[in-house]
Amino acid sequence: MRNRRPISWAVLLSLVATAIGIAIVLAIDWFPSQASTAARDIDTLYDVLLIVSVPIFVLVMAVALYSVYAFRVRPGDMRDGAPIHGNTRLEIVWVTIPLIIVSVLAAYGWIVLDDIEAKKADTLVVHVTGQQFAWSFEYPAQGKLQSNQLVLPQNRPVHFKINTKDVLHDFWVPDFRLKSDAVPGITTDVRLTPTRLGSYPVVCAELCGIGHSTMRQTVRVLPAADFDAWVREQRQGDADGGVAAAGGDETAAGRKLFTDTGCNACHTLADAGSTATVGPELDDLAAQAARYGEREGQTPTEYVRTSIENPNAFVVAGFQKDLMPGDYASQLSPAEIGTLVEYLLGVSKGKEAR
Ligand code: CUA
Repeated sequence: MRNRRPISWAVLLSLVATAIGIAIVLAIDWFPSQASTAARDIDTLYDVLLIVSVPIFVLVMAVALYSVYAFRVRPGDMRDGAPIHGNTRLEIVWVTIPLIIVSVLAAYGWIVLDDIEAKKADTLVVHVTGQQFAWSFEYPAQGKLQSNQLVLPQNRPVHFKINTKDVLHDFWVPDFRLKSDAVPGITTDVRLTPTRLGSYPVVCAELCGIGHSTMRQTVRVLPAADFDAWVREQRQGDADGGVAAAGGDETAAGRKLFTDTGCNACHTLADAGSTATVGPELDDLAAQAARYGEREGQTPTEYVRTSIENPNAFVVAGFQKDLMPGDYASQLSPAEIGTLVEYLLGVSKGKEAR
């Protein structure tokens, strides 16, 4: 009898705490913008999980706090507690109820994922390749277009096929919600439909080495016609090194290649605003290329081009072999590498003269 009043108080407080808790978890804006068809369903799923979690948390805390209060030791009481040997009915209840809750949530999650991963007509296939420390993309149906930028048309289903050339990475676009590990030796898949125009971060979400935190790019979602124009422009860029797309400005074209290719993730170059120190800094490149190129019997242009196409040819003292990816010759067209070489020599020379 003595404990009846604290119990009814505890029930009342628990109900109030549950109501406040649910209001708080729903009021918090947990997610970035909803930029794909998957986002709304996944956010709803999260909301349901949060709502279900609040009463469970409150129940556990209420029982714990109530027990601490109601069954506390009175001063001078040295007796042992009552010898309790289980309670079958209680145990059946506390196994059955969580089993039902978890099963229902698992089924709900499965239905949502199955719906998101359903194959759709007119799907754009994009190969995503992770590599220390940049993502690269290939569009097999767009003439095997290779790009270091991810550009997608709005409202068209996309099927990402994800690989890695070296270690584990994790392809993640928070605004699309979906993410998937890039695992050596296998291809993983993500299907989604971008619905919102704009630029969103592409993040590597798996610790993959010293440049992991800089392994960030941007996905641009464009209207379908602009996407087609971008594909044409990229093909043109393969032929002229991106100069026409930059309005004939070779320095701007080179700077764009430097950033889009992910060179900025590893190299410091003032002109491109990059400060990374994974690889040698390039602000003094023109002088270095003249000095070391002469020793190797190469002109500065040849020396820089060789260093991009075959990074192990001349390794700068203090840096390891195999640190820089060795496949830029296949990622970039010869014209693009030409633009990049002239850009690097041009801006580093300019800096020295200043
Ligand atoms: Cu790639 Cu972290």
